[in-house]
Amino acid sequence: MQLENKVVVVTGGASGIGGAISRVLALRGAKVVAVDLNTEAGTVLAEELRDSVIFIEGDVSKQETADTAVAAAVENFGGLDGLVNNAHASRQAPFTDLDQTAWELSFKTGFLATRQFMLAAYPHLKDNGGSIVNFGSGSAMVGQPTQAAYASAKEAIRGLSRVTANEWAANNIRVNAVSPWR
Ligand SMILES: NC(=O)c1ccc[n+]([C@@H]2O[C@H](COP(=O)([O-])OP(=O)(O)OC[C@H]3O[C@@H](n4cnc5c(N)ncnc54)[C@H](O)[C@@H]3O)[C@@H](O)[C@H]2O)c1
Repeated sequence: MQLENKVVVVTGGASGIGGAISRVLALRGAKVVAVDLNTEAGTVLAEELRDSVIFIEGDVSKQETADTAVAAAVENFGGLDGLVNNAHASRQAPFTDLDQTAWELSFKTGFLATRQFMLAAYPHLKDNGGSIVNFGSGSAMVGQPTQAAYASAKEAIRGLSRVTANEWAANNIRVNAVSPWR
């Protein structure tokens, strides 16, 4: 229970890796705001852990989703201690076949959503500190073929994470990037 009463926003927090993160955070005592497009999985999660998890249906690429999620954390649980930027949608194709829509999907749901959620969280973290975990990818680090739009957004997320880790260290805000690799 080392996370007792810590309040954490998890993007893409209803299913996949994000769903597992939401569940483990709740099992360790945290209060979780899970943000996701997947209403079915989010509803199941919130019913399963009704004292610990609130589900917010929303598209992370929209600024208002970040504002709504952070406001829900503050209003329902009294503050914010952490943020997990896990959601990311993308399409895979050779570089020459990736159209503008594919690039926008990856950057809006990955990089720009990460930026928006960090900016929404910062006012609530800057005085008491906290922790932010952003998601990169091992496949981005090795340059896996067909992943140009995804890898570019993931490496931008790692760059943003390094800079903000240095800038926000003075506020006791830890910023880390994890890069899963099969
Ligand atoms: N699974 C892997 O092997 C792997 C490897 C490296 C990195 N990653 C990264 O780990 C993270 C989680 O991966 P995953 O495999 O669980 O992904 P996933 O696609 O299974 O789940 C992502 C979750 O985000 C939600 N989501 C997608 N677009 C959204 C949007 N616009 N707004 C709100 N929610 C949205 C989905 O509904 C889903 O619940 C991602 O950042 C991914 O890039 C995964």
